[in-house]
Amino acid sequence: MGGFVERTRTGMEGLDELLNGGIPKNAVVLISGGAGSGKTVMGLQFLVKGATQYGEKGVFVTFEETRDDILGQAAQFGWDLAKLENEGTLKIVTFSPSKHHLSFVNFQLDEMINTFKPSRLVYDSISTIGVYAEILADVETLASLGIKKEDLATELRSDAITRRAVMDIMSKLKGYRLTSLVISELPKQSNFLSRDTVSEFAADGIIVLHCLERKEKKIRALEVLKMRRTQHSMDLIPMLMGENGIEVLTKEKVY
Ligand SMILES: Nc1ncnc2c1ncn2[C@@H]1O[C@H](COP(=O)(O)OP(=O)(O)O)[C@@H](O)[C@H]1O
Ligand SMILES: [Mg+2]
Repeated sequence: MGGFVERTRTGMEGLDELLNGGIPKNAVVLISGGAGSGKTVMGLQFLVKGATQYGEKGVFVTFEETRDDILGQAAQFGWDLAKLENEGTLKIVTFSPSKHHLSFVNFQLDEMINTFKPSRLVYDSISTIGVYAEILADVETLASLGIKKEDLATELRSDAITRRAVMDIMSKLKGYRLTSLVISELPKQSNFLSRDTVSEFAADGIIVLHCLERKEKKIRALEVLKMRRTQHSMDLIPMLMGENGIEVLTKEKVY
């Protein structure tokens, strides 16, 4: 297999093992799963371990929760995000689709990444773009995306905007020199790995988080569906969420 590939450690030893050492540096990886599957916790762990174990700066971008929600959720696992922010190894950035235009979000991200120069970024979540698209299905936005209003029915228009906006964000992330986890909320009934149906193709990697019902018990599991530039396991691997965060159990079987 190809030459030497620099890696970004995920902050989960078991997951690094599945990936032959970690995520290839500068990759954009989709973290896909249903509500409560552990996407946000995994994103936080990626940044906290990055900062504390590897001295890498990280940014957590959220559209879903307030800053206090995020601080509180991290504290559950003993992670002091405010301390990391004070030390200059972490930034939490919150946006709201009801308050901020998508072009403002993208502009702010650009500015922040160029000045803060993080090695890691978590985008929670790309599914929010669908909400933006409904708000932004106006003529001006369509024009800026090269879409003519009369060419599209209303519902197609917001789908087209979503896809285009998602592609824009994915290619933007690929242009930065950082490794990113892009969280995608997975609907229960879907053949796709993202709501927008395009980010899964644009991503360099895809990790799916599952919550399985087994013998009246819920089991958390994870699978790496795709990871460009590296070999990886394709097995369904159990994971635990304990007081120290997520643990990926490579030695056990899901049954
Ligand atoms: N302190 C904790 N210990 C163990 N599990 C927890 C703890 N806090 C939250 N959880 C579990 O994590 C889930 C939420 O994970 P989260 O990453 O927010 O999910 P997602 O972002 O995929 O919706 C909760 O539903 C709960 O099952
Ligand atoms: Mg979440």
